[in-house]
Amino acid sequence: MTRQVHLNAMFHTAGEHLVGWRHPSSPADPSLDLAYATRLVQRAEAARFDALFLADLTGIPDSKPSVLERVAVTNDSFEPITLLAALAAVTSRIGLVATASSSYNEPYTVARAFASLDHISGGRAGWNLVTSLNDSEARNFGYDTHLLHADRYRRAEEFYDVVEGLWDSFDDDAFVHDAASGRYFDPERIHRLDHRGERFRVAGPLNVPRPPQGRPVIAQAGASEPGRALAARIGEIVFIAGGGLEGSREQYADLKARAAALGRDPDGLLVLPALSPIVAPTRAEAEDRFAELEALLDPVVALGDLEYWLGGVDLTRYDLDGPLPELPPSNKSVSTAERIYTEARASGLSIRQFAKASSATNDRYTIGTPTDIADHIEEWSTTGAADGFNVVFAQLPDTLDAFADLVIPELQRRGLFRTEYEGTTLREHLGLARPASRWAA
Ligand SMILES: Cc1cc2nc3c(=O)[nH]c(=O)nc-3n(C[C@H](O)[C@H](O)[C@H](O)COP(=O)(O)O)c2cc1C
Repeated sequence: MTRQVHLNAMFHTAGEHLVGWRHPSSPADPSLDLAYATRLVQRAEAARFDALFLADLTGIPDSKPSVLERVAVTNDSFEPITLLAALAAVTSRIGLVATASSSYNEPYTVARAFASLDHISGGRAGWNLVTSLNDSEARNFGYDTHLLHADRYRRAEEFYDVVEGLWDSFDDDAFVHDAASGRYFDPERIHRLDHRGERFRVAGPLNVPRPPQGRPVIAQAGASEPGRALAARIGEIVFIAGGGLEGSREQYADLKARAAALGRDPDGLLVLPALSPIVAPTRAEAEDRFAELEALLDPVVALGDLEYWLGGVDLTRYDLDGPLPELPPSNKSVSTAERIYTEARASGLSIRQFAKASSATNDRYTIGTPTDIADHIEEWSTTGAADGFNVVFAQLPDTLDAFADLVIPELQRRGLFRTEYEGTTLREHLGLARPASRWAA
């Protein structure tokens, strides 16, 4: 039987393209529109996506004001766990994955919020653990600059262990709710964590019962050396980006090998490369749709986005019609900056051209017919590059509607994607076992 792919839908209501909100068929004020978010998530659920995934920052990014004033998403989106709790009430199957930073949070707060979301949604919560990107995020949490890359991954490792331990505070059957005897929970089945580590001292127990999934699903996207080490240890969904088919195969093999070396079942770590589809019945129509979107992209925004990912450099100091110079390493996303330099060199494009070509979702687009997109999904998922895809929806509602109407049926026809949800929890959709509590033995 054909192995089915997992599809994660990544979108904010403004769309993931920086200027998707300007498209004539998109609402220009989408960010705080709960009814619109409901329509979109219900569309994704009707298409049988495994999960909706919301990226997040803990502040407005440190892009230039001339860029910030032109983009949506990063300026006025809902706090993701809050939004997913609301969306849990209007959906019944789709997984709900929110981002939360281990650099600018406390483990107790994160453990409590995700355990709550897992209960509210009946076992559909996932946590995308990130270490954050911007100095501007750090400045909201008592620091002048962003924690150094190595430090923040060390913090992330310990942060995760505390959260995991807190989720195991109560045994699964600890709450007896016995009104007759007056006993609410069994004190034998509650465990204090008493964590005393390098960075955290957390007593526990958590004041939320064990989550329905045992633990919410863990998503991660580390790509640097410490990032991959963390992803291999704790990631159950691992997002990868860039590098094309060959680069994805390398990351896929590396992550699976690292997981196996740590004693994990490699099938318990699902690798999802990004796919940003622009699909239409014919290639010419798909190209037209892409051109419409690109026409909205002001060169100021394209250049500013490139400057942002390179760590806030000012590229206007260089000849914009010349090649991208190699600049000092960034403390933002080390691996993303490295990838950008490699891609810029290989492209032979000038700074101006490369900014436009690489902008907006940090991922290249896949433009074509439903057959083209399904071929891409089939090739990548059958040749060791992907267990599924993080489908990034650039402009809404069109790119989601087109994917649901045109690509999903083609994948189902090929036996590559489910026609019905078989389970009710995110773990069940992903084929991931429910972890036993550390106290179970
Ligand atoms: C699909 C995807 C989504 C991401 N979402 C976020 C996010 O919401 N917030 C964030 O701070 N970083 C996000 N990142 C960045 C990663 O957490 C990570 O920093 C990046 O992939 C580079 O890896 P490195 O930190 O190991 O260099 C995302 C990365 C990818 C590929």
